[in-house]
Amino acid sequence: MSLGRFLTLEGIEGAGKSTVARFAHEWLSARGVRAVLTREPGGTPLAERVREIVLQPGSEPVPSEAELLLMFAARAIHLASLIRPALARGEWVICDRFTDATRAYQGAGRGVAEDLIERLAAVVHGDLWPDRTVLLDLPVREGLARARGRGAAADRFEQEREPFFERVREGYLALAAQEPSRIWRIDASQPLEAVEREVAEILAAML
Ligand SMILES: Nc1ncnc2c1ncn2[C@@H]1O[C@H](COP(=O)(O)OP(=O)(O)OP(=O)(O)O)[C@@H](O)[C@H]1O
Ligand SMILES: [Mg+2]
Repeated sequence: MSLGRFLTLEGIEGAGKSTVARFAHEWLSARGVRAVLTREPGGTPLAERVREIVLQPGSEPVPSEAELLLMFAARAIHLASLIRPALARGEWVICDRFTDATRAYQGAGRGVAEDLIERLAAVVHGDLWPDRTVLLDLPVREGLARARGRGAAADRFEQEREPFFERVREGYLALAAQEPSRIWRIDASQPLEAVEREVAEILAAML
């Protein structure tokens, strides 16, 4: 049995992560590849409860360190109950956000110390990193316009202002520059068909 592969989608709000994750899942299913489609924070019933805590706007502030720990708490649950078992069964895991999002949002966005994030990553997932990460990159304004165009109520991150997302975007681009063999940047301002064509090429290469 072939080994499962681990693919993650990253990018700011409205970049197209969820759309592309569904596309990747369908593309693989059409080729007989068993794949699990999941997301972070969340992905399991318990981890989704942590997601609610961290995303729901409320009157009580969530300190950056608490936000960071909640992200990794949800991730530890997700890894134990879903990601590791699926990979062990030989299935692919397609995950909408993972630790690169923590580096970009809590690190570059909120200013949490990088070494703290890396230490937690080492504890929570050790050497299990995505085989491939697709970074959907686009100007902040375009992403926010798309996200707001969906009409859903803004979560705690979506309530942030543009300079926050500029830092997040820059954080992602810096990660892609540091790890070019894992993180593949796609210009997400292209029409969806062009984005999906590039994703299909990446998937074909991974198969
Ligand atoms: N390349 C594209 N061109 C135009 N519209 C797109 C493109 N990709 C996605 N969209 C649309 O933009 C909106 C946001 O896409 P999607 O929900 O996949 O983004 P996301 O990255 O998952 O956002 P979030 O971080 O808020 O979950 C959707 O309405 C989607 O149909
Ligand atoms: Mg999404």
